[in-house]
Amino acid sequence: MSILIDNIGELVTNDQAQGEGLLGIRRDVAVVVEGDRIAWIGPSGQKPAADARIDAQQRAVLPGFVDSHAHLVFAGDRAAEFGARMAGEPYTGGGIRTTMAATRAASDDELLGNASRLVDEARRQGTTTIEIKSGYGLNVADEARSLRLAAKLTTETTFLGAHVVPPGSDPDAYVDLVKGDMLDACAPYAKWADVFCDRGAFDGDQTRAILEAAARKGLQLRVHANQLVAGPGVQLAVELDAASADHCTHVSEADVAALAGSNTVATLLPGAEFSTRSPYPDARRLLDAGVTVALATDCNPGSSYTSSMPFCIALAVRDMRMTPAEAVHAATAGGARALRRDDIGRLRPGARADLTVLDAPSHIHLAYRPGVPLISTVLHNGVPR
Ligand code: NIG
Ligand code: FE
Repeated sequence: MSILIDNIGELVTNDQAQGEGLLGIRRDVAVVVEGDRIAWIGPSGQKPAADARIDAQQRAVLPGFVDSHAHLVFAGDRAAEFGARMAGEPYTGGGIRTTMAATRAASDDELLGNASRLVDEARRQGTTTIEIKSGYGLNVADEARSLRLAAKLTTETTFLGAHVVPPGSDPDAYVDLVKGDMLDACAPYAKWADVFCDRGAFDGDQTRAILEAAARKGLQLRVHANQLVAGPGVQLAVELDAASADHCTHVSEADVAALAGSNTVATLLPGAEFSTRSPYPDARRLLDAGVTVALATDCNPGSSYTSSMPFCIALAVRDMRMTPAEAVHAATAGGARALRRDDIGRLRPGARADLTVLDAPSHIHLAYRPGVPLISTVLHNGVPR
């Protein structure tokens, strides 16, 4: 089955060999998809025949968004906590334990239903790849269950047993459990391991011990780093060759320099600062130092209950001073780098046919028209939704 998408006004390829600027923009082109891959990109006048046709009507076509950071396996919500925060309460991460209790009490069907509803919600907003973490089970059975369910929805599954120490547990004993029986039970379903390295969660030594144990089990690494306070998370991520250091809200000069000279992406999660009414990370400082930046939603019931990459792009542009091109790049190619994937995040022959047709003539409209549903068609693995 082949599909011709023609009459494209602006094609964001993210491939500077193909087009102009950071986004590798091409104009008046057509794309042919065959099966789950891009087969051809070229001038509209030379388009080959195909089984089906999508007329882009001179609108913009982008790679599907790559949301490289989301916590979708949970039950319940924390609307009351959000309301209290907007009335002046601080965010501490303490509500993770509220969601833990609701998650443990939920059936598999409830957890899977909730997570798949969020994946569908994200897809309608242009997300074609989403990472899903555990982290609300916080015991062996419920962490393993969370990952088994997550693996039904994505290949990008992340073991986050080290989200917080559950109530009543001794911290040292819990770290031993995470590195031991919990890791053994979760590793079959997890591609990645992550630790919340921050005040009130895990310190540098604990984080290192858990990540090193996970790496020995064959998991790749990512770190929740420097969200609430400055700390060792970013430097540990770089030292352990983690694919991504996520949040990066409180970073030092040394942190920025370490990221700039590394293979570790800084994943910024502006939905979390929005929903916790916190200062945004300094994206300009990271970008200007040459750090690779990704944008992701952090979708979770506590600190960022949004599945919308367009919303995060709008925040990044308006409040973090990223250009529209930088934000779109970070939400697509940046996310792909944060997942160490080269088959997504770019549009070129051989790439996965994951793309969106915007109901707008350019990528700039994603930030220029915030809150407006601009995603008209989404192809995932070559299949229109
Ligand atoms: O990324 N920071 C740690 N974890 C989540 C918050 C989870 C929660 O509050 O439930 C985050 O913001
Ligand atoms: Fe998170």
